[in-house]
Amino acid sequence: MSRTSADTAKLVSDRILDQVNGGAISVLGVATGSSPSAVYLELAAAESKLIRHLEVFALDEYVGLNHWNEASYHAVVEEQISKPLRLDPAKVHVPDGMAVDLDKAAGDYESQLNHAGGVDFQILGIGSNGHIAFNEPGSAFHSRTRAVDLSETTRKDNARFFKTLNDVPSQAITQGIGTVMDAATIVLIAIGEEKAKAVARALQGPINTDSPASALRNHPDVTFVLDRASGSALNRKQMPLASQKW
Ligand code: GLP
Repeated sequence: MSRTSADTAKLVSDRILDQVNGGAISVLGVATGSSPSAVYLELAAAESKLIRHLEVFALDEYVGLNHWNEASYHAVVEEQISKPLRLDPAKVHVPDGMAVDLDKAAGDYESQLNHAGGVDFQILGIGSNGHIAFNEPGSAFHSRTRAVDLSETTRKDNARFFKTLNDVPSQAITQGIGTVMDAATIVLIAIGEEKAKAVARALQGPINTDSPASALRNHPDVTFVLDRASGSALNRKQMPLASQKW
């Protein structure tokens, strides 16, 4: 656990840069949302030539938002990641929420991931209800990329990126929990008190589909990077020893 959101961003970006420079990461999985955005700023500031060669996969996209809509994850990935990191647009992938056939788009996305050889390092955020990507509570741990309905909690949480709550789409296309779990290394970043309960349930509650992020405890190489506020509901006496790793 680190003190501030700036500390968390530095911690994660240093880890990514080390691994990219050491040749351990060629495919980076990226999350949208406010928690990881400082990581992308740090990565851009590093001006690493190797970063520019990365292949990047986003976790999810809203259904029915045009790609030029600034709230779409296509637009967010372009503004916060592709442009500042000067990535090759042909190597940046975001699920197609405008597809007429969403099942086909989901299957195609899985194929693109497989073709790239899978994600080496996945950056994740967490929803206040414990969702990862857009896998809402109840999502199967073996789920793959698919179209999903968004919960009212998630729509309300994300309304800050839209003019009104009505503008928030009610569906998304998302990597499944099983897809996310295929990444070799996963780092979940949580910032702010509104994430505290979800973080405590994920790390110290039962591992079940009520808490999608709890699935991560079955992953061999996962790290939660927390600021003080998002870690405030954890029972310190139960903290796993691995929490000292970073
Ligand atoms: C959205 C995204 C998630 C993200 C979550 C938290 O729902 N689909 O991938 O983890 O928001 O975002 P934030 O970091 O802005 O709280």
